[in-house]
Amino acid sequence: MATGSSVLPFARRRDPRVEVRPVRSGEPVARTLEVAGLGPQVAGLLGYPRDSRDGVVLVGVTGRGGVVGGACRAWFGATGCMGALGVLPRARRHGVGELLTRASVEWLEERGAQTSLLYATDMGRRVYERAGFVAEAPARAWRGTPPGPPPEDVRRLHPSDREAILALDRAATNEDRSAILDRLPALLGLALDRADGAGLAAFALNTPWGAGPAVVAEGHDAGLAMLRALVTEPQPLTVTVPDDNPGVAPVLAQWGFRPVNTALRMRYGPAVGHDPSKMFGLFNLFFG
Ligand SMILES: CC(C)(COP(=O)(O)OP(=O)(O)OC[C@H]1O[C@@H](n2cnc3c(N)ncnc32)[C@H](O)[C@@H]1OP(=O)(O)O)[C@@H](O)C(=O)NCCC(=O)NCCS
Repeated sequence: MATGSSVLPFARRRDPRVEVRPVRSGEPVARTLEVAGLGPQVAGLLGYPRDSRDGVVLVGVTGRGGVVGGACRAWFGATGCMGALGVLPRARRHGVGELLTRASVEWLEERGAQTSLLYATDMGRRVYERAGFVAEAPARAWRGTPPGPPPEDVRRLHPSDREAILALDRAATNEDRSAILDRLPALLGLALDRADGAGLAAFALNTPWGAGPAVVAEGHDAGLAMLRALVTEPQPLTVTVPDDNPGVAPVLAQWGFRPVNTALRMRYGPAVGHDPSKMFGLFNLFFG
């Protein structure tokens, strides 16, 4: 598939073909994904892959031109991220989800990504497994308000923090997500400096696309300090924490946070060697 376009024949439908290709101007992909169950916030989440040359929004389109599904991809060099896969209920169980998934992997592989990563719902998991993904560990979204007052040594992010953010993000993810930072007009969020002054112990970074900040820290105490600092957020906080960062969930529960949902980290290709013990708020550098 050279252009991100492929065709699925299936004989049992009147409209016998669904094409997968990059979305065109005016096509109602956000509405389609909302009806597919991804919620009203999905329109915002499409912003990065739609507007970045390192991203793409793919759609599944019937022969009559109707959009029946969609998915997003972002490319970070050796790795890529996939998300927001959805198919309209009436078009399900005809292989459209699998076709979108395979097209997404091919789109990333054409650019040189060795590993594609995603967080799967229960509905998505089997589709991804058929396309060759393997399960890693679950992550849980929590919602609540941290106890105050915020730690005094937490400060606002500054434009000069860019390299330190990338270094800490790389230590946690083993990915280079600089393409995301390059698209941010400003670094909005909080920082905690290391005691020796050599970089950041933790950061919380807001993006225009996500539902909450990305929170990364060099260790448990710094991560919890940063989560406590987010008491300054105007709304209750939503953070998604990997289950394999095990010390965090009991603290969030003690603070009165409630689990909202879970998703399973899956990968296609070799493991990237990430460090979940540094991850306190996932997704929001890209999908929220
Ligand atoms: C997850 C989702 C995208 C799957 O879309 P889909 O188009 O139904 O996916 P597929 O058709 O490729 O596969 C779904 C099932 O249909 C089956 N199927 C595929 N083609 C078929 C055919 N021609 N005849 C009968 N069954 C078929 C598959 O084997 C699969 O069955 P299984 O789940 O029991 O293994 C869709 O259910 C959805 O939008 N869910 C809500 C949003 C969501 O959770 N998205 C995932 C985000 S991680």
